[in-house]
Amino acid sequence: MKNNTLMRIDVITGFPQLLRSPLSASIIRQAKKKKLVSIRIHDLRKYTHDKHKTIDDTPYGGGAGMVLKPEPIFECIETLQEKRNYDEVIYVTADGEKFNQKIANQLSMKTNLIFLCGHYKGIDHRVREKLITKEISIGDYVLTGGELAALVIIDALVRLIPGVLGDSESMLTDSFQGDLLDCPSYTKPAEYRGMKVPEVLLSGDHKSIEKWRYEQRVRHTNDRRKSLLL
Ligand code: ADE
Repeated sequence: MKNNTLMRIDVITGFPQLLRSPLSASIIRQAKKKKLVSIRIHDLRKYTHDKHKTIDDTPYGGGAGMVLKPEPIFECIETLQEKRNYDEVIYVTADGEKFNQKIANQLSMKTNLIFLCGHYKGIDHRVREKLITKEISIGDYVLTGGELAALVIIDALVRLIPGVLGDSESMLTDSFQGDLLDCPSYTKPAEYRGMKVPEVLLSGDHKSIEKWRYEQRVRHTNDRRKSLLL
């Protein structure tokens, strides 16, 4: 059968259980069902050859923490690369390039991506030198591993794949698209505990509504993220 899935994502981890549930719910689940994306989780322990399925070891030179061994990672990535070409082999790490909407947009246009999740003290540096094409951090703080960061990045990019969101408009007006934060949203009732929905939104005048929304986005951005306007 022809595989017409738009994007394929392979995630490599020593802790697959951290990824399974978030990748099988909500929008991502629907995107998978619609065959817009296929996401495979690979357990590093399956690429070990010893009885204890060892994926980490102590660092050369001493010091605290464990380092993920190169062999299982090399074998896993090479097995995948034998089957197809990958646009990027991404290592999620606190010292990578800071993730943002622009990177999400770029990644959402790719066909095949690999995400490698580090754990403990990180991964053997030879993996980074030889196999990794891009390193991404989700912020200036340290997580126990790359799994949650990979989930954040995958979530942000999958929702940008055409057809994933039912109302394609909603992603074009997201915060950060067009370098502006999003405007306030309201739903029924029109008045709740004395708090009223802005009159213009009830007016049915689409031009005025659009103008109001744009002004709100500029004001909101100016208040919270002035740097986006510069
Ligand atoms: N692994 C540990 N901390 C991280 C971060 N902030 N971003 C991406 N991967 C990480």
